[in-house]
Amino acid sequence: MDALTLLLTRHSQPRLTLPAPAGAVLENIKQAALRAPDHAGLKPWEFIVATGAGLTRLGKILEHSAKANNKEQTSIDRALQLPHRAPMVIIAINKYVEHDKVPKEEQIAATACAVQAMQMAALVQGFAGIWRTGSYAQCPHVKQALGMSADDELVGFLYLGSTSMKALAKPAVDSEAYFTAWD
Ligand SMILES: Cc1cc2nc3c(=O)[nH]c(=O)nc-3n(C[C@H](O)[C@H](O)[C@H](O)COP(=O)(O)O)c2cc1C
Repeated sequence: MDALTLLLTRHSQPRLTLPAPAGAVLENIKQAALRAPDHAGLKPWEFIVATGAGLTRLGKILEHSAKANNKEQTSIDRALQLPHRAPMVIIAINKYVEHDKVPKEEQIAATACAVQAMQMAALVQGFAGIWRTGSYAQCPHVKQALGMSADDELVGFLYLGSTSMKALAKPAVDSEAYFTAWD
């Protein structure tokens, strides 16, 4: 798939099964993240690649968060299972770096670009994925369990895996609704 086709047809896929990206394919995904635009080259990110027992480890963190936030038992049970919706979850964390020219917003933008780049690198290599957040991404208990400081942000859980499902056709969007020309 050429780059323009990827950009014009990209899509997410919530139903993901084994296999997960591995070996050279996974390394390409990592390298795509590390090529994200990054003001001052701060590399303000950390990525945790969870598979197998790592998904259960993440699920236990979410379960603890659900309990600590007094959620209903059904939500607590579900929390443990959430990461198992894919064979791989990459947790993308923005590790804030104090810098006089690069505010936190720009650093989060860089980490977000890295997430998008990883999803696209997975897609173009025959895998699929979806970027998720939800309330757990904001939860102080989750942040603490992931070793994050108060200034760090959980930018996304990138679920990756395989799918046999075709992407749903999306309606075309009129660019004029969102773009203004200053000629
Ligand atoms: C920062 C961010 C957080 C997101 N969080 C969720 C989420 O928690 N759950 C979800 O279903 N989609 C979430 N999405 C949206 C999906 O990743 C996806 O873009 C959306 O389902 C539209 O599908 P498409 O990517 O095929 O256009 C999030 C997207 C972004 C950029």
